[in-house]
Amino acid sequence: MNMTEELKKSTTIIENLTDKLGQVTTSKYSFEDIIGNSTEIKKCINLAEKSARSNSTVLLLGESGTGKELFAHSIHGASMRRENPFIKVNCAAIPETLLESEFFGYAKGAFTGAVKSKIGKFELAHSGTIFLDEIGDMNLLLQGKLLRVLQEMEFERVGGNQTIKVDVRVIAATNRNLRELIRRGEFREDLYYRLNVVEITIPPLRLHKEDLPALVNNTIIKLNRKLGKKVKGLSKDAEELLFSYDWPGNVRELENVIERVMVTVDEEILVKKNLIQHVNQFRILPERDVDIMPIDQMEEMLIRKAMAKYGNTVEGKRRAAHALNISLATLYNKLKKIRPSNIKI
Ligand SMILES: Nc1ncnc2c1ncn2[C@@H]1O[C@H](COP(=O)(O)OP(=O)(O)OP(=O)(O)O)[C@@H](O)[C@H]1O
Ligand SMILES: [Mg+2]
Repeated sequence: MNMTEELKKSTTIIENLTDKLGQVTTSKYSFEDIIGNSTEIKKCINLAEKSARSNSTVLLLGESGTGKELFAHSIHGASMRRENPFIKVNCAAIPETLLESEFFGYAKGAFTGAVKSKIGKFELAHSGTIFLDEIGDMNLLLQGKLLRVLQEMEFERVGGNQTIKVDVRVIAATNRNLRELIRRGEFREDLYYRLNVVEITIPPLRLHKEDLPALVNNTIIKLNRKLGKKVKGLSKDAEELLFSYDWPGNVRELENVIERVMVTVDEEILVKKNLIQHVNQFRILPERDVDIMPIDQMEEMLIRKAMAKYGNTVEGKRRAAHALNISLATLYNKLKKIRPSNIKI
């Protein structure tokens, strides 16, 4: 082999390794980062800690923003595999056509453009954990392939003929109702039973509001560090306002709300007025009961609620439109009319 060829070969090896390195992470959070003293959260932590000691597949269920990713990291971080890779795959973010090669890699020449082979996430996760996020959004064909991997722990790269064996611990998560998807024929029942060996359902924030003060404190501490502020806490009336709200976007929404206020206010104690001034969610929050109000105001309230719950992404808007039973185009039109400062269109 001449020098140029040798150099080319080494460069390919280096490129592959760099690519691999860029994707491998160790877990970012541990159980100590999970705040909550309510029985609901303690039950989840307890089950998650037990599952960390085993190799069992874990299925994390819960609404958006409830902490599924936090739990997935913590389980890996407390397991025997903690020194090994933690690989996250967002099954909803990768186009369906690419998902298979993302999972299993591809062999050189598998398709036009495949000038060299590529290692997939399952191989990267070997001896560690793979976190399959948004598993409810995966297409049926791939669900079948995943099922085989879970059963046999072996697969072939796309376009390859060599069987690759791996040792991977699987944690899956979704905010969708899998039973409903199974009923509609959109999710394989056999895959569901493979995944839910240990099933942990993280409750929405509105069902464990007693954890609000601790969560708020924890968020303020984190944000003080991030924003260089010296906020000490909330006034009684501000805290009451937080309790009167249902938090459709759960802990993530709570963190966003506090950040929005902390960025804009320079006081040490945040009061109710600050929250109402800077957070759209609270401007039209009905006092306890929903009172009679103009229909367009009611519509605006529901749209804000849906946006807060599903998030301001294209996918979030699609889900919000679905939940509101209007078309995506109608939702865009209505958002344009509302044009609040913090709902970008
Ligand atoms: N119990 C908790 N204690 C402390 N922080 C929490 C808790 N639950 C959630 N968080 C924080 O809330 C944010 C959202 O959590 P996470 O990303 O884990 O939610 P998720 O369930 O994966 O949401 P999605 O379904 O939208 O992906 C993160 O910043 C996370 O650290
Ligand atoms: Mg998540």
